[in-house]
Amino acid sequence: MGKALSCSLVFLCFFMPLAFADWNILTQKTRSGLRISLKNYCESWRMNVELHNIRDFQVVPAECTDYIGKYVRSTQYKVDSERATEECLVYLSTSCNLKKDGKDAWVFDIDDTLLSTIPYYKNNGYGGNKLNETDFEDWLGKGKGTALEYSLNLFNELKSRGVQIILISSRREYLRSATIDNLVNSGYHGWAGLILRSPADELVSVAKYKADARKQLINNGYRIWGILGDQYSSFDSPPSCTRGFKLPNPMYYVA
Ligand SMILES: *[C@@H]1O[C@H](CO)[C@@H](O)[C@H](O)[C@H]1NC(C)=O
Repeated sequence: MGKALSCSLVFLCFFMPLAFADWNILTQKTRSGLRISLKNYCESWRMNVELHNIRDFQVVPAECTDYIGKYVRSTQYKVDSERATEECLVYLSTSCNLKKDGKDAWVFDIDDTLLSTIPYYKNNGYGGNKLNETDFEDWLGKGKGTALEYSLNLFNELKSRGVQIILISSRREYLRSATIDNLVNSGYHGWAGLILRSPADELVSVAKYKADARKQLINNGYRIWGILGDQYSSFDSPPSCTRGFKLPNPMYYVA
C-alpha cells in the first residue's frame, strides 16, 4: 500500500516486535503476570490498533493471523462497520447544516471502506508475511473487490441528501479504469470526484497526499462535512476541519 516508512535494519524490523511483546506464548502470561489466552492477547492487539495506540505495524503478528482472519469475516466485523456508518448519519443529522448548493461533500476511501480487500487476504494470509505489493496491485487490477454493504448504504443515503461524494484513494492512477469498473459493478455510482495517486503523490506520505487533496477540494469551494476511511491517515492531518469516522481494519496500517 505504498508505505513511505521502510526498515533499513532488517534485524530490528523482525525482532523488535518480539522484544516488546506483552505476552509470552510459552507461559501464557502478560509481563505483569496476568494469565491470558491467545484470544485475549490478539483481541487486545486488535483493539489497540483501532485505538491508534499501535502504529506503523508492518504485518499482523504471526500468532494472531487466524484470530484477525476470523474477525474480519465475522458478524462482529459487520456490526462494527454498520455502527460506524450509522454514527456518520447521526452526526450528519445533528451537527451538519447542509446548504444543498452542490458544495456539501463527504469523502470516502476505497479499499476496505467501499470495496473489501478481504478476499485477497483470505487467499494470501492475514499477515505473518509482508504484503507482496505487486501481487496485491495485480489483484486490484482485476476488479475483484467486493462491496461493503453498510458503506454502500451510507454512500446512497448521502447521495439522496444531496451530498457530493468524493473518493480519495491511495490506489495509483493507472488503476483508474479497473477501479471505476469495480465500483460500478459493486453498486456504486454517482460520485462527484475520484482522486487517485499520481507518481508525484507517491513521494509523500498517504496522510499528506490525502490532506493536500482535501485542501484542493476546499479551495474549489467544497465543504467537507465528514470522511469515512479505514485508516487514521485518511483523516488525521489538517485540513480535516470535520469529523473522521473509522471503519475497523486490523489487517494493515497505512501512514
Ligand atoms: C510477489 O509476487 C509475485 C507474483 O506472484 C512474485 O513473482 C514475486 O516473487 C513476489 N515478490 C516477493 C518479494 O515475494
